[in-house]
Amino acid sequence: MPHYAVFGSPIAHSQSPRIHAAFARQTGIAMDYVAIEADHARFAEKLAASGVAGANVTLPLKEDAFALCAGNVSARARRAGAVNTLLREGAGWRGDNTDGLGLVRDLTERHGLDLRERRVLLLGAGGAARGVAPALLDAGIHSLYVINRSPERADALVDALGEPGRAHARGWDALPALGEFDLLINATSASRGGSLPPLPMALAGPRSVAVDLSYGEAAVPFLAWARAAGCSHVVDGLGMLVEQAAESFLLWHGVRPDTEPVYAALSQRADALVTAD
Ligand code: ATR
Repeated sequence: MPHYAVFGSPIAHSQSPRIHAAFARQTGIAMDYVAIEADHARFAEKLAASGVAGANVTLPLKEDAFALCAGNVSARARRAGAVNTLLREGAGWRGDNTDGLGLVRDLTERHGLDLRERRVLLLGAGGAARGVAPALLDAGIHSLYVINRSPERADALVDALGEPGRAHARGWDALPALGEFDLLINATSASRGGSLPPLPMALAGPRSVAVDLSYGEAAVPFLAWARAAGCSHVVDGLGMLVEQAAESFLLWHGVRPDTEPVYAALSQRADALVTAD
């Protein structure tokens, strides 16, 4: 039976093993999929020791995975400078990135949003932000403002996107002057540590949609801020997680599973956990 895994840190609460097990049952494909804790220092060694045929990579390892592929990456992974899906190729790895497509599918197909001509704020410029930025531009948004604590990382992301007219890099201190956005995306890891930097309420209005790329507890602070700021629609990262997983599954097995029942089961579970708390 072929083995697959997701690598990251922290990884214990990852939903990916559950999602891939559900896809495997649905499609009748025999495989197993486990979560493996790995930090920057031990990622390459743990990946080699795992014997997997393919892997997902999550924070904080998406840029490490890109480097590990030594140039053998898809066009979308190259543009993102980040890899979330590894496919074994001979003795090495081919890298792809399904995060951006996963987010766009979740927003447009599940939540019925039209991204065309939207003014978009992207908080963060790490692996998660890099993964989604190219797909947002490709989906026809009007403009993308990348805000990062360390401005040089925002500059590097915007340079890599290669669309100086539409993509702009700013520091956190520029936020009060930027006005209202149609779509606000939290791609920082700040809320996983519990502390989101203060955000001006004027960034959002009743027609704004807020998205946190995290799910569960980690998505709570930003989405609570978004509701308080008047956003009509808030979305956590669970749908994107299921959609990016389906795209990885397609790359590995040649079949795209039906994501809806898996998303429905996971959302119910998340509601049940919240209620139980
Ligand atoms: P990920 O794969 O989740 O993107 P990452 O590559 O480590 O993880 O990137 C984390 C992102 O969250 C970065 O944009 C980081 O900002 P810096 O590049 O300045 O480090 C951002 N981030 C993390 N903690 C933050 C905080 N307390 N305030 C603001 N931004 C934060």
